[in-house]
Amino acid sequence: MIEIIDGEAVASEIRDGLGDAIATLEDAGVTPGLATVLMSDDPASETYVSMKQQDCEEVGIDGIHVEIDPGAPAAELYETVEDLNANDEVHGILVQMPVVDQVDTRRVLRTVAPEKDVDGFHPENVGRLVAGDARFKPCTPHGVQKLLAHYDVETEGAEAVVVGRSDIVGKPMANLLVQKSAVGNATTTVCHSRTEDLAGHLGNADIVVAAAGVPEMIDGTMLKEGATVIDVGINRVDADTEKGYEIVGDVEQASAREVAGRITPVPGGVGPMTRAMLLWNTVKAASEQAGIEVTLP
Ligand code: GUN
Repeated sequence: MIEIIDGEAVASEIRDGLGDAIATLEDAGVTPGLATVLMSDDPASETYVSMKQQDCEEVGIDGIHVEIDPGAPAAELYETVEDLNANDEVHGILVQMPVVDQVDTRRVLRTVAPEKDVDGFHPENVGRLVAGDARFKPCTPHGVQKLLAHYDVETEGAEAVVVGRSDIVGKPMANLLVQKSAVGNATTTVCHSRTEDLAGHLGNADIVVAAAGVPEMIDGTMLKEGATVIDVGINRVDADTEKGYEIVGDVEQASAREVAGRITPVPGGVGPMTRAMLLWNTVKAASEQAGIEVTLP
């Protein structure tokens, strides 16, 4: 019997736990603040950012949203981030990716103050994560770890295959799974667009994290019986629906459910966890900046 991993339920538990931490901060006169910055006209990015702001409001984090005209010079974005770095009411800063072409993405990531970098994308924070001393784990891989822990998925000694090598998901995910730590100690393989025998790797995998951004590229015939399948994909594909599209993951769910032991649905699996872990990182940032200890869920 396949077990469906309920990301909404786990995210909701995490938000409840964060509520207690936020109350502790409030008692000490500190309201955690998260700034989101959008310089893009991608409708999906606009949706993601507005959901993040809504999440903040629901748990009692002060949300500040800055929108920069996509046609403006890149300097406007760098200066906005510097202003937010200097703003004591802002504990976390998230610049929604991807940004418009005139912006140097690496420069933006370096401009965010590392202690406010709740995405975990600043080179200092990437280095700390790789060294096993993470300050902020990037939200999606962090959320995947929380799901694996919640469902008692044994990672120690397991064969884990991460499909996709993005800076946002694939690389940090693989780094976390391989580490000598809780929800780590996995024998970890990273597959990507140049991998010659993807099915061969997946056929050995006890844990699959699919994060390539290719609609339904993995099907049940490629999976090992009983595998835990974490589908990070959020792909818009044309469909005969009211909106003209539907969202599918990187895994073809129907055939995967015939073979896998556990699987995350899309939507309702990893997505809600990514959002919850952004709140988690923001509360951690506020706690550290204010010097007030809290218990994080
Ligand atoms: N775009 C897609 N995922 C993310 C994310 O986790 N953080 C930011 N800043 N942009 C993204």
